[in-house]
Amino acid sequence: HGKWEDQIYAVVATRFQPKLDKNKLPQYFTTGEKKGEIKTEKIRYFRAPNNSDIESFEKAKSYLESKWDYFDDKGLIPTEKFPKGNDMRPPNYGMERWCDLFNSRQLLGHLVLMDTISTLKPAIIEEYGLDKAKAIITYLQFGIDKIVDYNSKQTRWITQRGVVSGTFGRHDYSLKWTYGEMIYTGPYSGPRWGQIQAAKAYRELSELLAGVNKVYGENIPLQIINGTAAHIEGVEDKSVDLVCMDPPYYDNVQYAELSDFYYVWQKRTLKDLYPDVFSIRLTNKRDEAVANPSRDGS
Ligand SMILES: C[S@@+](CC[C@H](N)C(=O)[O-])C[C@H]1O[C@@H](n2cnc3c(N)ncnc32)[C@H](O)[C@@H]1O
Repeated sequence: HGKWEDQIYAVVATRFQPKLDKNKLPQYFTTGEKKGEIKTEKIRYFRAPNNSDIESFEKAKSYLESKWDYFDDKGLIPTEKFPKGNDMRPPNYGMERWCDLFNSRQLLGHLVLMDTISTLKPAIIEEYGLDKAKAIITYLQFGIDKIVDYNSKQTRWITQRGVVSGTFGRHDYSLKWTYGEMIYTGPYSGPRWGQIQAAKAYRELSELLAGVNKVYGENIPLQIINGTAAHIEGVEDKSVDLVCMDPPYYDNVQYAELSDFYYVWQKRTLKDLYPDVFSIRLTNKRDEAVANPSRDGS
């Protein structure tokens, strides 16, 4: 009918119920503080959406509408158009801008996080100094990227594991007729999980570096350059002993096209901290070492 509409299909919830013994009778604590109380167990179940679920979604939708100009004036909404590329399914199904890849409630959650980090930035810089603040803000943004990844209309419900998949379970923009949505508030919220994941990645990377520290001490002669491998500035001729790489394979993954999904969020928080990396509107497709039919014409 020319218009896409989502419908809440099922809600996953948890509840506590009496723990039963093999005769299907409730079990009781026989010792300790809880002596005499019924033992309970937490179970996960699925239910049909009720009015409150539907109303809360509608509430988020109208709240987003009422705050749209506020977020937009602050430049927080990725309203950039989905560019011409190899996989045009999102615009073909009506998602013309990057912000259209989220339902209203998902988008509202992401924008509240983006607004919060942008408000906190000056205080973080003031308290920790620019270098450390850059690292903190970057990893906070990675945490936001994670929830943006797992709370979009491009996710899937993985029935075998009972969890939401990320947006790029497949390396493309295939349409998802049914998608999962994570809860955005409370102690088990998606954003909290995103931040925990970003911190965990940081910790694990540091642990990998610990071995290198053993050899070199604190001052590891490590230089990270973001740019095309075709010409690397600042590396002298005949100064390289070994080139070890993991290059793209032909047209298997259009990395730059997929990266735009994150780039449009990252650049809003990180552009002033890394002007070299985030100066362009969308990612650089021109220098990418992939077979790209949309770019090269065949
Ligand atoms: C197979 S992936 C490497 C994945 C990486 N080893 C990892 O574990 O995350 C290939 C990478 O090459 C990058 N790439 C594509 N063209 C490039 C170029 N011209 N210069 C440098 N990197 C490029 C892509 O963006 C992609 O991240």
